[in-house]
Amino acid sequence: MEEKYFTDLEVVDSELLRRFEIEFQRYRAAIKEINTKLEILDEEFQINHAYNPIHHIECRTKSLRSIRKKLEHLDKPFSPSSMVANLNDVAGVRVICKYIDDVERIANILAEQDDITVVVRKDYIRNPKPNGYRSLHMVVSIPIFLAEGKKDTRVEIQIRTIAMDMWASLEHHIHYKSDAAASPELLEGLRQCAVTLHDVDLNMQEIYDEINRQR
Ligand code: GTP
Ligand code: MG
Repeated sequence: MEEKYFTDLEVVDSELLRRFEIEFQRYRAAIKEINTKLEILDEEFQINHAYNPIHHIECRTKSLRSIRKKLEHLDKPFSPSSMVANLNDVAGVRVICKYIDDVERIANILAEQDDITVVVRKDYIRNPKPNGYRSLHMVVSIPIFLAEGKKDTRVEIQIRTIAMDMWASLEHHIHYKSDAAASPELLEGLRQCAVTLHDVDLNMQEIYDEINRQR
């Protein structure tokens, strides 16, 4: 009898699940690689500049449920090969920096590393989304060395400040909470909050730079 498993979606047969799991292992490995690179950079900054630019890092692999939803939305089949071919954000790393100048600095240092290829770079800090969203996004490709050989693997990296992260978290929460579409006034209020937080980011950077000059 064929085995069936209950996943977070519904019943998926064990063979399909096993083939997804093979790909997920690779995505988890890619997250580890990126994480290690970031930790090394953070430590180096501590030694050379006496501060850690990275406040914290969050990692996740996309749930099977979200993968299926997104593939359906793209009108693509729900299969491991289709996931690998069509989705850039199965592996996600979010880097929350203390100061706004650290965001681009970290992105550029990562982008220059020999084993990293930048596939997509979207600068929503220089060009915020109309709703006010700010962050620097990169999809990178990194080689993962497995028993069966080398496989280039994509990771979506979002780099942002604490202030940008606060806005994105609350904005996500607000939309997630309310079924009804928010009114134009509320949306404008949210966008204004993003502008205010951006001003705070610029001011905090100035203060930090000034203190550094006095040292
Ligand atoms: P996706 O299908 O959402 O992945 O679209 P995309 O390929 O155009 O990616 P984009 O770089 O615009 O955004 C990808 C991710 O950034 C999202 O999954 C969110 O995590 C985050 N993001 C983008 N826009 C917003 C936003 O307006 N608000 C919040 N809270 N997060 C956002
Ligand atoms: Mg996404």
